[in-house]
Amino acid sequence: MAKIWYLGHSCFHLEIDGIQIVTDPFIKPNPKAGNIDFTSIKADIIVVSHGHGDHIADLVELANQTGAEVISNYEITTWLEKQGYAKSRPMNHGGAHESHGLRFKMTNAIHSSSFPDGSFAGNPAGFVIQGKNDCMYFAGDTALTYDMKLINEEFDLSLAFLPIGDNFTMGIEDAAKAANFCGASRVVGMHYDTFGFIEIDHNEALNKFNARDVELLLPAVGDKLEL
Ligand code: NI
Ligand code: MN
Repeated sequence: MAKIWYLGHSCFHLEIDGIQIVTDPFIKPNPKAGNIDFTSIKADIIVVSHGHGDHIADLVELANQTGAEVISNYEITTWLEKQGYAKSRPMNHGGAHESHGLRFKMTNAIHSSSFPDGSFAGNPAGFVIQGKNDCMYFAGDTALTYDMKLINEEFDLSLAFLPIGDNFTMGIEDAAKAANFCGASRVVGMHYDTFGFIEIDHNEALNKFNARDVELLLPAVGDKLEL
């Protein structure tokens, strides 16, 4: 059983096999995450998909607060080192890394990746996180891609976190198809409703996923789930 606490946008606090993981920390600048007490967030591991501000805005501060190991691409961990934070694990696509008894495999994502100052932040990625009983795919920001079928070949997913907000990533139609591609029968939606470009119709999203036999969960910011 895994615990999920939604911190808004693509930021989740996960607890798998007792290990605490935060994805793509973007809380303080998120106007929709005003109800989250930042100082209460703990983490053993922080996973970062790419360098855009809506995924790393709170990375340095949260890393310092938690002392977590930061798992990301080489360019982002190198940048982090220059900010004075060295407890990180550089990775690249196709590689896997075991940490705290969990396995992290870095997957492809179709997107871009630059730091807020415009400099190169490596290539965007997703991660499959494998625990004893849970296997979760955190897709990061991505378009729909046939590469997701490789995830289905290799893993038996218990859950996928997929972007559904359209415009910068997949919209609901493509994301529902992505769920079928990667073999997830249960999906937590992310990267929607945070700002104007990515507002979605919740009922339409639920129906589109339902039509593909996929359960879509749309927790409110601050909600806690046990799955
Ligand atoms: Ni992005
Ligand atoms: Mn984004």
